[in-house]
Amino acid sequence: MIPFVDLKLQFNLHKEEFMQAIENVCANTAFILGKEVSEFEKHFAEFIGTRYAVGVATGTDALHLALRTLGIGPGDEVITAANTFYATTSAIELAGARPVLVDCDPDTYLMDIDAVEKVITPKTKGIIPVHLYGQVVAMDALAAIAERNNLFVLEDACQAHGACYKDKGAGSFGNAAAFSFYPGKNLGAFGDGGAVTTDDAAIYEKLLAVRNYGSTRKYHHPTFGTNSRLDGVQAAVLNIKLRHLTEWNSSRQRAAERYKKNLASNAAIKLPVSAENSTHVYHLFVVQVESDRDGIIDALAQKGVQSGIHYPVPIHLHGAYSYLGYKKGDFPCSEAAAGKILSLPMFPEITDAQVDEVCEKLLELL
Ligand SMILES: Cc1ncc(COP(=O)(O)O)c(C=O)c1O
Repeated sequence: MIPFVDLKLQFNLHKEEFMQAIENVCANTAFILGKEVSEFEKHFAEFIGTRYAVGVATGTDALHLALRTLGIGPGDEVITAANTFYATTSAIELAGARPVLVDCDPDTYLMDIDAVEKVITPKTKGIIPVHLYGQVVAMDALAAIAERNNLFVLEDACQAHGACYKDKGAGSFGNAAAFSFYPGKNLGAFGDGGAVTTDDAAIYEKLLAVRNYGSTRKYHHPTFGTNSRLDGVQAAVLNIKLRHLTEWNSSRQRAAERYKKNLASNAAIKLPVSAENSTHVYHLFVVQVESDRDGIIDALAQKGVQSGIHYPVPIHLHGAYSYLGYKKGDFPCSEAAAGKILSLPMFPEITDAQVDEVCEKLLELL
């Protein structure tokens, strides 16, 4: 069986380091906002290239709390991609605002920048570009639109730890950026976790309070807040994993190149297309197949290969968003991709032999 992601293998390879770090947290009872969390925040900000990082409970909270900190609330509109994960738009709703969608580029699957300006209204307050699958949205063009229209940019970098746009890290472009440390991410914890990165001292200070019941002094709550802290055990694990992230991203890139080489000869498969000026850290290796995608997934599973779909339903076609008033056909590229995309096994430790076997079995089926 070739798994879609092999978290057990990674755990076993670094088990002693992980267990020692977790034992330290327990021995020091540094469970909430302890030394490991501060250390991780410092190192993660350095890695991304921002002045600050604030650990929170999930990537969804990172988006939601950053939006609250940016002053978003009822009556506001925030523009994002129609082909993102549900969490991006649910965070906009959690802040009380309305998601406004744009289609994606049919080749890179990144948000169609040219569509953004067409949906700006007097209620629009910001844009959430999603660095989907591990590639970075054209941040120069997006920053120009944001500046012209006086909008904030909050990057959804939940799938792009370590990716770069013109040599600058994903998560260092917007007013703030959100990361997820869900276990299967390029940088994943042993449970849920997230972080907001920013260069803005005021956003940073507000976030420190917002993630901790709105309090800067115990039992005093001058502003809104909630309980959304990265816990010490997760931070200890993330500190270890962060040291390996660059090497792990390179391994993903090597596996991706091998996939591309093996599959290039078959015209029935559309390979990932590189976005201009962006590195790709292959959180997901997504191909398109022209017909019977779901049948291929089942047949691959029968041959011992796990695969996935990210994502089978675009945002506007979920029941949860019927109130937004969109209909089928509104975002043709997102809809077309949703019916054809297929994510193949991708994790840093995947071997050449495993990649070759996945390709062989997929090619047999096609
Ligand atoms: C693009 C995107 N945004 C937001 C999230 C939400 O992150 P989390 O699952 O940590 O809440 C995820 C992760 O699943 C994601 O892939």
